[in-house]
Amino acid sequence: MPDTGVWTRKDLLGLEELSREEIEHILDTANGFKEISTRSIKKAPALRGKVVLNLFFEPSTRTKASFSLAAQRLSADLVDIVKESSSTVKGETLVDTGRNLEAMGVDIVIIRHQQAGAPALLARSLDACVVNAGDGTHEHPTQGLLDIFTMREKFGDLAGKKIALVGDITHSRVARSNIWGLRKLGAEVGLIGPKTLIPGAFKDLGVNIHHNLDEVLDHYDVFNILRIQMERQHKGLFPSVREYHHLYGIDAGRLARMKPDVVIMHPGPINRGIEISQEVADGENSVILRQVRNGLAVRMAVLVLVQSAKESHGG
Ligand code: CP
Repeated sequence: MPDTGVWTRKDLLGLEELSREEIEHILDTANGFKEISTRSIKKAPALRGKVVLNLFFEPSTRTKASFSLAAQRLSADLVDIVKESSSTVKGETLVDTGRNLEAMGVDIVIIRHQQAGAPALLARSLDACVVNAGDGTHEHPTQGLLDIFTMREKFGDLAGKKIALVGDITHSRVARSNIWGLRKLGAEVGLIGPKTLIPGAFKDLGVNIHHNLDEVLDHYDVFNILRIQMERQHKGLFPSVREYHHLYGIDAGRLARMKPDVVIMHPGPINRGIEISQEVADGENSVILRQVRNGLAVRMAVLVLVQSAKESHGG
């Protein structure tokens, strides 16, 4: 196990509670893990003999596969449980589920849950490490970290860099994790979208809020474009998908009015033709698949750090 340095937490629940030094330590540790993915045998022994549990109560392609591969590359044993095949559908509580799995020797629980705070509840109830893989509209810390890791690869120091988050901020746990992390690293953060999708209270987080995308196209260095989360919207928050695309969709015309070396990001899944056009998603400024690749190294770092902290510091 590597030296955990400033990292002493057995859980990763969000970026809000982390210091700048802790965030940088995770990113620096992830840098070291990137190389493993380039080897022909993509394995390291750091978690040999440990058991990692994926406990996913919401759908996921990227995060679940990325944590699975991260655990396997670190030589851990992996157990996968999804909502439909878990005994929570028979009425078992989340904490009872966690305790039963811990009794079988699970060391690290990766949890995605529709309720904000579910990972924190589990973390308080278990000796096992708990990593938040997205809880309601609260946080998605490893997505925030991999986004920031990808920006750091491009720019180095993020102090003073201008990062825009575009779209459905209200329902986005990715936006919250990005805002907390980026502000701690000294970046200027702008939120762009219709009034109905950006809560006014976000001003208190030290961000700029814009409702007219076209006025700020050439101001930002990065546009991190968020999915319109239809499944979390209980009433019409904009007139139509067509109108949303007209006002806030990032297409070739808008890309041409941005800085020439602007970085286009998206956490996925993408709704092509709504928040981002085909040619922008697949174009030269897009780092969308680089984000996914970097996610693996970031998640390897998180798994090793939380397990090491539990062993070294007792959590
Ligand atoms: N970005 C992200 O969380 O994607 P998934 O929902 O596919 O995990």
